Amino acid sequence: MTGYVDIHSHALPAVDDGSPSFEMSLAMLEVALSQGVGTLVLTPHLRPIDGTDKEEEHRERFAEFKQAVREAGIEIDLHLGSEIAFRFNMPEVAAWPTGHLADGRFVLTDLPPGPVSPGLEQAYFELRSAGYKPILAHPERHRELSKQPEQIERLREQDLLIQINAGSLLGHFGRRAQDTAEMILERGWPDFIGSDAHDLEKRPFSLLKKARERVLQLCGEAEVDRLFHRNPACVISDDEILRGEESPRSPAEPRRRNNSSRRGGSGKRRKKEKAGFFQRLLRR
Ligand SMILES: [Fe+2]
Repeated sequence: MTGYVDIHSHALPAVDDGSPSFEMSLAMLEVALSQGVGTLVLTPHLRPIDGTDKEEEHRERFAEFKQAVREAGIEIDLHLGSEIAFRFNMPEVAAWPTGHLADGRFVLTDLPPGPVSPGLEQAYFELRSAGYKPILAHPERHRELSKQPEQIERLREQDLLIQINAGSLLGHFGRRAQDTAEMILERGWPDFIGSDAHDLEKRPFSLLKKARERVLQLCGEAEVDRLFHRNPACVISDDEILRGEESPRSPAEPRRRNNSSRRGGSGKRRKKEKAGFFQRLLRR
């Protein structure tokens, strides 16, 4: 598989709040290619309430779009999936033909804004019990969840896979999302970084290169490969992904907004730093 792999995008034309036209979608693919993306999963929003008609519409539009991409001579490997809005009947929706990503077992989900449902863990357990591998999209952007990093950690320990957005790492969704994304990254919690591209300007594919540079700066080359290539490629091949570890940040690497060292101290010191970070998040 050549190039990077992006498992979260809204470049399927005129089906959701992403690209409104074939013209823009083709232009978006050109940008994705320029960012080194060789394989792309199109993940339009799919709400259980939309029903199977909407899902069918996505498949028809995908066939038309692939034809347009071929005719335009754009060489990119395209797959179809969905970004499923969290609900308690997720296994039913995941079983729809595009309810899972690229015909595999991975399922991209996102949470509604507002309080985190007390039934969240049970709902993901049911999805896993049905044989799927659920991915939580951009938890750093969820206001309530970003205040509870310990809950993100607990979900991760229950095998919920974590995808963060390239734009979050670059501050495009505000300071809280950026801080949370960096914390998640440095703890080794994310399994994927995706563009979540919606258009050419506000939420474009063109953030991917800069996000890779930021990951390189914070965590090193191996993590860039794991998050932008190796793990997303496993979504396409339906293989086991590689979970992360806390980043062995170089002592010479300056922190962007504070100068605390992340690693190299005693376990006690690291525990104290971790608690301090969570407290700072919770105070906001
Ligand atoms: Fe999305």
